[in-house]
Amino acid sequence: MFIPSQRWAVAYLSLAILAAALVSAQTPQPTTTLEMVTSAKNLPNGIEIQAASATLRITALRDDIIRVRISPGALPEDESWAVLPGPRGKSVDVQPIQSDSAVGFHTASLDVRVERNPLRLVIRDLAGNIISADAVGRPTRFQMGGFTISKQSDEHYFGLGDKTGSFDRRNQAFTLWNTDVAPQESVDPLYKAIPFFLAINGARSYGLFLDNTWRTWFDFGKQARDAISFGSEGGPLEYYVLYGPTPKQVVEGYAYLTGTPPLPPLWALGFQQSRYSYTPESQLRGIARHLRADKIPSDVLYLDIDYQDRNRPFTVNPETFPNFKGLVSDLRKEHFRLVNITDMHIAHAPNQKYSPYDTGEAGNHFVKNPDGTDFIGVVWPGPAVFPDFTRAQTREWWGGLYHQFAEDGVAGFWNDMSEPSVFSGPGMTMPLDAVHHIDEPGFAPRTATHAEIHNIVGLENARATYEGLLKLRPDDRPFVLTRATFAGGQRYGFTWTGDNSATWNHLRLATQMVLNLGVSGISFVGADVGGFNGSPQPDLLTRWVEMAAFSPLCRDHATKGSLPHELWVNGPQQEAIRRRYIETRYRLLPYIYSLADEASRTGIPLMRPVFLDFPEIFAPGSGGIEHVDTEFLLGPSLLVAPPPFAEMLDGYSVGLPRTTSWYDFWTGAKMASVPPVPSIATIVTAPAGTLKLPSHIHPPLETMPVYVRGGSILPMQPLIQNTDETPDGPLELHVYPGPQCSGSLYFDDGHTFRYQRGEYLRQKLTCQSDANSIRVNFSQREGSYAPWWKALEVVIYDWPNADADAKLSNGASTMKTSYDPKKRALHLLLPDVAGEANQDVVLTVIPVQH
Ligand code: NOJ
Repeated sequence: MFIPSQRWAVAYLSLAILAAALVSAQTPQPTTTLEMVTSAKNLPNGIEIQAASATLRITALRDDIIRVRISPGALPEDESWAVLPGPRGKSVDVQPIQSDSAVGFHTASLDVRVERNPLRLVIRDLAGNIISADAVGRPTRFQMGGFTISKQSDEHYFGLGDKTGSFDRRNQAFTLWNTDVAPQESVDPLYKAIPFFLAINGARSYGLFLDNTWRTWFDFGKQARDAISFGSEGGPLEYYVLYGPTPKQVVEGYAYLTGTPPLPPLWALGFQQSRYSYTPESQLRGIARHLRADKIPSDVLYLDIDYQDRNRPFTVNPETFPNFKGLVSDLRKEHFRLVNITDMHIAHAPNQKYSPYDTGEAGNHFVKNPDGTDFIGVVWPGPAVFPDFTRAQTREWWGGLYHQFAEDGVAGFWNDMSEPSVFSGPGMTMPLDAVHHIDEPGFAPRTATHAEIHNIVGLENARATYEGLLKLRPDDRPFVLTRATFAGGQRYGFTWTGDNSATWNHLRLATQMVLNLGVSGISFVGADVGGFNGSPQPDLLTRWVEMAAFSPLCRDHATKGSLPHELWVNGPQQEAIRRRYIETRYRLLPYIYSLADEASRTGIPLMRPVFLDFPEIFAPGSGGIEHVDTEFLLGPSLLVAPPPFAEMLDGYSVGLPRTTSWYDFWTGAKMASVPPVPSIATIVTAPAGTLKLPSHIHPPLETMPVYVRGGSILPMQPLIQNTDETPDGPLELHVYPGPQCSGSLYFDDGHTFRYQRGEYLRQKLTCQSDANSIRVNFSQREGSYAPWWKALEVVIYDWPNADADAKLSNGASTMKTSYDPKKRALHLLLPDVAGEANQDVVLTVIPVQH
């Protein structure tokens, strides 16, 4: 219980905060501008500079990661919600630089100088190319409790999380303030605040992460073409510059700082079906039956808020879901996992035996008003209170609330409304002066206003859920889906892009949002398939499924009142197309899972912009590629090229990087040469009806153009209906000869942490081809996991004829050979080549000359 002396203490503290706020509101904050260096002191890992009363400390965490802290006075407390303690504590020794005009240092990769007068930070690579530099004539300024900083502008900007607008952030400005809002097209801010961007200038890239949780803003040359600016309303000015030079190195560096995503359970990569809301339980059972009867491979079903009793989180409506545990177990028997929504608000229900409220109140776990009483705001359950997730104890209490659902066998959880969304609050959220408590290892205990904590509520809510589930089921990989998050949110699993609409424009946005989230560290993400608001036309839903089949999270979801948009609506023809794409996803699961493994180790997203693997498209003089904003890569091997304007009748050109060869994924055909991009002049002058440029494709509804990079080994498996099922047949390795040919395998049991104890299988595959032969190299397998297959089927594309001699370096013989003339593909059935102790196994295939 909350005892009176505590109440007084809180009231006293709140008065003190209110008084301080009033004083600061009344006393104009002095403006501080960083004009010139007044003194400098070398540090082993950087430099500390005074600029009159202001302090700048610039240090090197690694040779390629520079941390900059600036304050109008002494530096504030050194803490972070986003950056992991490990990297924050790291440093490298640097070589000081001192001249009449500048002070600074260099690392093994960078030259970091602060020009003395006017004060200007300039970071160069060791060849002298500018990587990032303060804008000339725009000094860093602190005013009204916040700050503004300006840098010289670059060519392209990506990142910042889930913003809409165009893919490249250049010439646009954004605010980062987690907001529950729809429709999304022309609205900013949205649900996530990730103050990180990737800048690309010709062949050089860097990233900049502003570690500030307050309302921040970024202007990429909108106000002034020659400069970008960013700033915040409050909090510390602290940022990291992450050097590439490739964009991939930058994204990896950002993951080093803020964490990689955990390896998800395999089932989470299967198809997921959701709706607001399947109720009563017979409806959900019907959906499960229909999916299985129609053989739409699927793994996950969702319960949105209506399964609850009066929308109260952590309850179940006994009338509509009378046998909840039985339902969960029946669905499990059908190989479905259930994900329940558990919104962050707790119904304000004193004396009603609603345990989340009673225990939360007893533990003092709710956010306060300035007068020390609980802040109450209206959300789905009506009046509600809000857990104070910046307290470790509150997160622990929250995690414990999952006890019953975990015991019932609910597989995963969905944290929604965590911006936090408050229907009755100002700006749909809490008042800025609501009081949070920071009570957390690594932080000085104190109170903080909502203005400071707002952007991390979603992050800490997901963290509480993730860590709670780990405690409740220590050997089960948690599945947590959150709508709001902050930098570092990838550490707790999945997110989605929120309430989109059933329009062609939102389908287009889905790609760019997922790509920019990927660049911002969030690998496991998707958009509601079919669009949440409204009802998709049949072709739109089909195109959406085709695209989502290649995205990390593939979840069909729709709002109340919209027409059903499960895959079978709109008749058997549409369903057959949709099913085929979901089947393709399941056939590709060995590839997708190996990408998940890569993401969990490096932070490189599964679904990525073409430039992440082909940065040369931005190199000076390269001319870029077409549709860089609507095309995407799934891993290093697949390039998906959705029609940029699928609702229009025009054809379009596919932008394929010209530095490699490409194959058509569906036909196996090697593309003769990369088609030239049609010039406007050609289109305009071509006589009507004869315009048949090879690059001007117009794929029919059933075709999503997908290309395979020459030099890929793509693992696939026989079709399964869910991830519990063991594939029946060999593991397929599709070999597309080309430069730097490689692929990788990753397998484990799919849901426990045994892989962290060595029970996994990781294998690198490479191939080399010349005019006379192809050699596929199976390196030794890592880990002790015994996979499901007994044989391998190697499929070699661009193979001239049926006659081939194949031999394995370990003496084993191939089991069967066949040739598919339509695909020009040679199929070889091999015994499972495990990679024997201390040596690789090589498969050599030579065409037989007659
Ligand atoms: C808002 C979420 O974005 C949506 O996906 C969900 O269906 C509704 N809340 C109801 O819970």
